[in-house]
Order: sequence, then C-alpha cells, then structure tokens
Amino acid sequence: MTRADEDPMDPHVHDEDAVAESALRPVSLAEFAGQQRVSDQLGLVLDAARHRGMVPDHVLLSGPPGLGKTTLAMIIAAEMGAPIRISSGPAIQHAGDLAAILSGLTSGEVFFLDEIHRMSRPAEEMLYLAMEDFRVDVVVGKGPGATAIPLEIPPFTLVGATTRAGLLPGPLRDRFGFTGQLDFYDTPALRGIVQRSSRLLGISLSAGTDEVIASRSRGTPRIANRLLRRVRDYAQVRADGRLTPAVAAAALELYEVDELGLDRLDRAVLSALCERFNGGPVGLSTLAMAVGEERETVEEVAEPFLVRQGFLMRTPRGRVATARGWAHLGLTMPSSVEPDLFGG
Ligand SMILES: Nc1ncnc2c1ncn2[C@@H]1O[C@H](COP(=O)(O)OP(=O)(O)OP(=O)(O)O)[C@@H](O)[C@H]1O
Ligand SMILES: [Mg+2]
Repeated sequence: MTRADEDPMDPHVHDEDAVAESALRPVSLAEFAGQQRVSDQLGLVLDAARHRGMVPDHVLLSGPPGLGKTTLAMIIAAEMGAPIRISSGPAIQHAGDLAAILSGLTSGEVFFLDEIHRMSRPAEEMLYLAMEDFRVDVVVGKGPGATAIPLEIPPFTLVGATTRAGLLPGPLRDRFGFTGQLDFYDTPALRGIVQRSSRLLGISLSAGTDEVIASRSRGTPRIANRLLRRVRDYAQVRADGRLTPAVAAAALELYEVDELGLDRLDRAVLSALCERFNGGPVGLSTLAMAVGEERETVEEVAEPFLVRQGFLMRTPRGRVATARGWAHLGLTMPSSVEPDLFGG
C-alpha cells in the first residue's frame, strides 16, 4: 500500500515513485539503513543458512507502508544469490494459483508474498503444508471421486509482508522462523537515507537541508525520498536550484507537510477527532467517514504514525485524541474528556 495516489500536487507521482523507488532501493543489508535490530537478526539468519548450506527459514516482515518490507525481501534474495518470485495475497484467488507458483519455484528461490494477510483461506491452508513439508496436495477431480495427489516442491524461502501482522491467523504466523517488525525510522537514519538518495540522484544539499527533510518524513524512507524530490522541484522552479534548509521548509509548507511530518490526511484525522468528535472516543469507521477515506487507509496509513507521535490512542471504546494531539492543532483539550480513558 502506498500513499502515492493521495498526493494532490502531482498526478504522476505514482509512476515517478515506482521508478525512483527501484533506483533508490538499497540492494544489500549493509546498505539498508536503520532498523538495526531487525537487520542484525536477519543477517544472522542468512549467515547461518549459508553456513549450513540450507535455505533460510521463512521470514515474515510487518510494519506500516514504506518502511522497507519489499526492499528487505529483495535483499534476502540478493544476499543468498537466489532468484525471487513476487506475488501478493490479493492476486492469489484460488489454491490452484498458489499451487502453480509453488510448483514452478526453483531450489532455494525466494518467494515474496506481499499483503499476505489478504490471501484466501484455501490458499492459506495449502501454504501451511508447503512451508512445513515443501509439499502441496493437488486435488484432481470433483465430488466423491476427487483425490489429492501430493506434489513435492523444492525447498524455498517464503518472505511474507504485511501491514497488519495482527490479521494473520496464528497457525500461519507460527510457521515463520523469523519475524521482523519494522518500526518508524529515527531522524539520523532518515538523514542518512536522504544523503544517499541525493547522491544517487545527483542533487547537492547545503548543510542542514537533509535534517529538514528527514525530520518531516514521518519516520518513513519512502516519504523521505519523495519529499527530497519535491524539494528539488521547488528549488529548481522557485529558488534557482539552491537547496537550503529555508527552501526545503518553504517547499514542505507548500506541500502541506508540517514540522513533525504530519501530512494532510494525518491532520484531517486528528482534527476530525478533536473538532467533530470532541476528542473521542469514536469508532474507526465513523472517523474514516468523517475524513472521506477508506477505513483501511486511516487504520494502516495515518493511525500508526499518530499513535507513534502520541497524538492518538486506540482504546476498546474507540479512538481518542491525547492532550499532545490537541496541542499540536493549537487547541485546548476540553476538561469534559473522561479522565478514565487516560488511565486516571
Ligand atoms: N532501510 C532503508 N534504507 C534506505 N532506503 C530505504 C530503506 N527502507 C526503504 N527504503 C526506501 O523506501 C522505499 C520504500 O520501501 P519499500 O517499498 O521496501 O516499503 P514497503 O515496506 O514494502 O511498503 P509497502 O507496505 O507500501 O509495500 C524503497 O524503494 C527504498 O528506496
Ligand atoms: Mg512493499
């Protein structure tokens, strides 16, 4: 899932993003910035597999959009010198679709299954067997005469990606030997990413510009790269190509990205919560409707960052704005907000 289609400033951002993303994708673990724990642990899993001359355990990667799940899947294949086969949950409608992919894998291949939480139930069950025994049961015929023919498949590594690890059924989650939970990046890591990308794109930033971009990137490499390109556009058109902190700040203001990196959708969610629902608690669907967005977009794209920033809480009774959230909008939290929601 990307936010590309939500950028009102650039109708072509999606294509441009796809091209820029593949050009900027780190290709080895050494180049992969931040996420130190996940990257160390994953490195160990891969080293151990190489040592034993076996395929690495299945890997599950979870986390909000743009944090590097697809990138890591490609890195796993590259580090193992293995080919990669890419598919996604929604593309696999029938178990037969999955059987066709699995039986076509070569030994040691990495099978990247994006949005794994959106796979169909029968496909999921076939995947259990394939992950565990490197076997699928192909059903031939119909009705009482149908028989299941077991089909061996070569050892492979499944890399599953999901923005919603909580949606995966336990039995599926348990079959992964390693789970990497990607978290938002800190500003120093994002600065490193902005510097690397500007080098690759031949953009020269004057001192401190990387910091302005990094600190407003919502903790997300994809957004850091996108803002870098938007800032470059702005500098070319309005500032004789000079990329200074002030020019970057002016550009980001134009694109409605605030000092903490909240974009239009983030602010719309937070303001609806405070101004229309008096800070909540309000249900996710109601909140999504109020900002004219899909439930999933609010839940998977906007909320994780708002929660991470301490602006919003998910409670059993619904979404609630925190004092910090009210303050960020320049509003005072009304005293009528029920104190028990804050553990008081
Ligand atoms: N650790 C990193 N270091 C440098 N660049 C990164 C890193 N992680 C991600 N990127 C950059 O961000 C872009 C988006 O990352 P990626 O496509 O892997 O995200 P994703 O987690 O798969 O997102 P989605 O959930 O939307 O599929 C990549 O193309 C890459 O340029
Ligand atoms: Mg991806």
